[in-house]
Formats: sequence, C-alpha cells, structure tokens
Amino acid sequence: MRRGPPVRGTDGGVTASALVEVRFAVAADASLLASLGAETFAETYAADNTPEDLQEYLARHFAPQIQARELSEPGTRFLIAEVGGESAGFARLRDGPPPSAHRAAHPVEIVQFYARARWIGRGVGGALMDRCLAVAREGGSDLVWLGVWERNARARAFYAKWGFREIGTKTFTVGSDVQDDLVLARAP
Ligand SMILES: CC(C)(COP(=O)(O)OP(=O)(O)OC[C@H]1O[C@@H](n2cnc3c(N)ncnc32)[C@H](O)[C@@H]1OP(=O)(O)O)[C@@H](O)C(=O)NCCC(=O)NCCS
Repeated sequence: MRRGPPVRGTDGGVTASALVEVRFAVAADASLLASLGAETFAETYAADNTPEDLQEYLARHFAPQIQARELSEPGTRFLIAEVGGESAGFARLRDGPPPSAHRAAHPVEIVQFYARARWIGRGVGGALMDRCLAVAREGGSDLVWLGVWERNARARAFYAKWGFREIGTKTFTVGSDVQDDLVLARAP
C-alpha cells in the first residue's frame, strides 16, 4: 500500500500528520464505490444539470451491482483513496484508446477521478493521480488519457498542473444533455 502526502487541515478530527492511502478496490468494495461515485458525481455536477438529467444519470450508472460488474471487467482497476480509514476519493482506470486518433500501443483511460467535497484541495487528488500514473507505468502503458467537461475549470487546472495536454474532444451525455468534453493525455 502506498502512503501518500501529508494532508493539510485539521477539520473532522484529522490532523496534519494524517496520510492519504491509496489502495486497489476489491469485489467487496462494490457498494462503497456505488455510493462514492453517486455522491461525488452529484456534488460535482448538480449545479450545472437539471435534477431530472442528474437523477437519470445516477440511476443508470451507480448501484452495487453496476460497480460489481465494472470491478470484474478485464482491464479495469479502481483505486480508493482513504484518510484515517475514511474513503476520500476514487479513480477508475480502464485499458483502451482515446476517441481521437492518437498513436499509442497500450493506452489507459482514467474513466473517473473524484475526491469527496470535504477533501478537495487537500492532496487526495494528487495522491490518486500519482498512483494512477504508477499503475499505468507498471502495466506497460505508453499513454494515459481522460475526458474532462470543458466547463470544469478546477479539474482542468488540476490536470494541466499534472502535465496533461489536450489531444481532442468527445461528447458526454448526462440524461438528455449532450455535453462537450476535452480529451487530455500525457505519458505515464
Ligand atoms: C479534480 C480533483 C479530483 C483534484 O483533487 P484534489 O484533491 O482537489 O487535488 P489536490 O488537493 O491534490 O491538488 C489541488 C490543490 O491542492 C494542493 N495540494 C497538493 N497537495 C496538498 C496537500 N498535501 N494538502 C493540501 N493541498 C495540497 C495542490 O497544490 C493544488 O493546489 P493548486 O492547484 O491551487 O496549486 C478534485 O478537485 C475533485 O474531485 N473535483 C470534483 C470532481 C471532478 O471534477 N473530477 C474530475 C472529473 S474529470
């Protein structure tokens, strides 16, 4: 298990010496990933989508049996970030090429990348990204890519800081709303 950077801040009883720990999810994490996924998706996008579109997306994508199926997909790895035993964020990696023509022998997508609201800006994303890149490297990947909503300025700034560069665009559908995503990539 990798030990991440110290976490700033003292709220929730977590001291400055607390560490972000990132582990691979296992089959028993399906329910946790379903609730973590739904919670963080709603926190991130509720303000920019209609309640109907949001509910439709949550119902379609998050339930213990859905995450159980995703956990068992070949080429998929989930990482869970924890602070003091509390889940603080997660990432999903999946082998596969970006939609844009981009030469790579073994590309890996970061399909989901989320910190819980109370942990944003405190090192959870950094610890998760560090581990995502290490997992990609160790798996022999030559390209890590992801889609980010063009209006998600905070995430775009985070990925830019981590060296991701734009290589194309794709669409992402939330309920009835078809949104434009930027496709970003970097070597792991
Ligand atoms: C994008 C996201 C995952 C980044 O995660 P994060 O935990 O906020 O990222 P970090 O805390 O590691 O880094 C963000 C900032 O905190 C700083 N930071 C780094 N290590 C830190 C630490 N140990 N303690 C506190 N802050 C730290 C970084 O310097 C960075 O600051 P800067 O960008 O102003 O220079 C997070 O903002 C998030 O979950 N957003 C909502 C969901 C989302 O949009 N996901 C992306 C979908 S594509």
